[in-house]
Amino acid sequence: MKILAIESSCDETAAAVTEERQVLSSIVSTQIAEHRIYGGVVPEIASRRHTEAISAVCSDALAAAGITYSDIDAVAVTFAPGLIGALLVGVNFAKGLSLALNKPLIPVHHLRSHIAANYIHNPELKPPFLCLLVSGGNTVLAEVTDYTKFKILGGTRDDAAGECFDKTARAMGLAYPGGVTLDKIATKADPKKYPLPFPKVSSGEFDFSFSGLKTAVVNLVNHSAQKGEEIDVPVVCATVRQRVCDMLIDKTLKAAEKYGYKTLAVAGGVSANSELRTRLADECRPKGISLYFPELKYCGDNAAMVGVQAFYEFKDGNIGDSSLNAAATIPID
Ligand code: KG4
Repeated sequence: MKILAIESSCDETAAAVTEERQVLSSIVSTQIAEHRIYGGVVPEIASRRHTEAISAVCSDALAAAGITYSDIDAVAVTFAPGLIGALLVGVNFAKGLSLALNKPLIPVHHLRSHIAANYIHNPELKPPFLCLLVSGGNTVLAEVTDYTKFKILGGTRDDAAGECFDKTARAMGLAYPGGVTLDKIATKADPKKYPLPFPKVSSGEFDFSFSGLKTAVVNLVNHSAQKGEEIDVPVVCATVRQRVCDMLIDKTLKAAEKYGYKTLAVAGGVSANSELRTRLADECRPKGISLYFPELKYCGDNAAMVGVQAFYEFKDGNIGDSSLNAAATIPID
């Protein structure tokens, strides 16, 4: 079954052709350079750029797979969660295609597709497993009980992990998207000099909180500027990265132990973080936990993961019609 998948939930316009877990083509047109001058994504600009790019991106994905519109068996699209205007571009384009081609329309939840990014290069990975989902807008710890069944164990009480990286990076004047830059700079320093707080959540065993850490960094930057002192940017980056990883790793491994999981997958943009990858691998090995990450090119937003998840949604009968609408927020389960 060949699926043409479309993704437009934030600042990447993407299309892919997939067949079950196999990626026949994957095209991503990113808007990062355009949003960089504003220090973050401007929703109105994102919607306009999706509108301009979507048709060409879909044609490119078909051409790269060596097929035409008449060869596809279904159209899949990210319908939630994300920026509403951006999502609407993909949803309406997909609805039009499905109608014109008379092929099924498969709505895909963005976070489910991030998890599915793990299936692409890990043929042996199948539910049940535990998943830590860490992106720019979401931080969720969930049991993946089946390909389309999820049980949330915890989530962030305030900022997402990626948001904490992006906003602390921005406070230090680093280029958007800050998480990537912060990760690179952090490798040059030792996290000792600044007494930044260790994020804590007193109730909610598997919940996360990152806003205290973010505020501490913003205050540190502002107070230093007022005193005319320079902060040691690499050291702050290393400290933020360490604190965020501490919390993510600690809660995830406790959940794995409590619920008896020996298979763990990490998903979302922050799964590209180098410290998270290394430390989790080091901690999982002695515990006998099989650890999975998506390939780096599938950690961020892309349509290949949408197509792979769509295959399982289709098998489960989750088909959309012309009444499909986009939604800014919908839980994964
Ligand atoms: O999954 P994603 O591409 O978009 C959402 O669906 O939210 O995630 C983007 C987030 C951004 O916050 C970005 O800074 C972060 O992932 N990110 C990283 C790294 N690469 C991307 N954060 C930390 N370390 C990285 N290497």
